[in-house]
Amino acid sequence: MTYIRLQDIDKTFYMKNDQAYYALKNISLNIEKGDFITVIGGNGAGKSTLLNALAGTFFLDSGKIIIDEQDVTQLPEHKRAKQISRVFQDPSLGTAPRMTILENMALAYRRGKKRTLKRGHSHDEKEFFKQQLASLNLNLETRLESEVGVLSGGQRQAIALIMATLHSPELLLLDEHTAALDPKTQRMIMELTHQIIKNNHLTSLMITHHLPDALHYGNRLIVLHRGEIVKDFNEEEKKALHVTDLYELLLTLDERM
Ligand SMILES: Nc1ncnc2c1ncn2[C@@H]1O[C@H](COP(=O)(O)OP(=O)(O)OP(=O)(O)O)[C@@H](O)[C@H]1O
Ligand SMILES: [Mg+2]
Repeated sequence: MTYIRLQDIDKTFYMKNDQAYYALKNISLNIEKGDFITVIGGNGAGKSTLLNALAGTFFLDSGKIIIDEQDVTQLPEHKRAKQISRVFQDPSLGTAPRMTILENMALAYRRGKKRTLKRGHSHDEKEFFKQQLASLNLNLETRLESEVGVLSGGQRQAIALIMATLHSPELLLLDEHTAALDPKTQRMIMELTHQIIKNNHLTSLMITHHLPDALHYGNRLIVLHRGEIVKDFNEEEKKALHVTDLYELLLTLDERM
């Protein structure tokens, strides 16, 4: 049974001269539970808009979004937050800089749980957070009381990723979440992403401009161009692809006016 269904989605924005243009045009996409879909396409192709549509950042012009049999099309972003987690390119968007690592994690952990009047965290929760951090091998479990703002971008992004998945969301949306990192840290965060998605059986969409990552990770690859899905490679097709094929494809799309 299809887990997430996007049906005939349109989203237009208006330019200064009041002319409308399609950021998403007639998008239909079926996502199965456990799908890890990598998303590529040129600047302005509509990739972030597609993830925003799923997260509920805005309402659609037309079309429907069904998640696990529930029509969420009219649900605002905060009502989808329990099911949907996001990590962005900018590490500062996923964490609160003036709060400690522990406070950040406690906050993320509470999200999606029934509201409780109790503040802070229990001893067990602290141990759980420590364990999660230890799995990163970044020694962050010894720095629970450090403010997140003093950490490096890679360290923050690792914490943002753990925070985004602490409450086991149904859907994880990654928008170029490794783009601001140095190559070594990028590798580390990508491996961590892969592990977290696998261990928690998450369904995920990941936008990247890094074509080798788009090929290496995930079981499906979609290509956006001018608001439309122009290619949808399944696992087998994806395995047969090379980076040069993707590069060529992106070039020909640009030439096709
Ligand atoms: N809030 C908005 N208001 C007006 N136009 C918008 C808005 N959000 C996105 N757009 C436009 O929609 C189109 C798609 O933008 P989007 O951010 O989805 O591209 P993208 O594929 O994520 O590109 P990039 O690779 O540069 O991040 C662009 O032309 C962009 O200017
Ligand atoms: Mg984008």
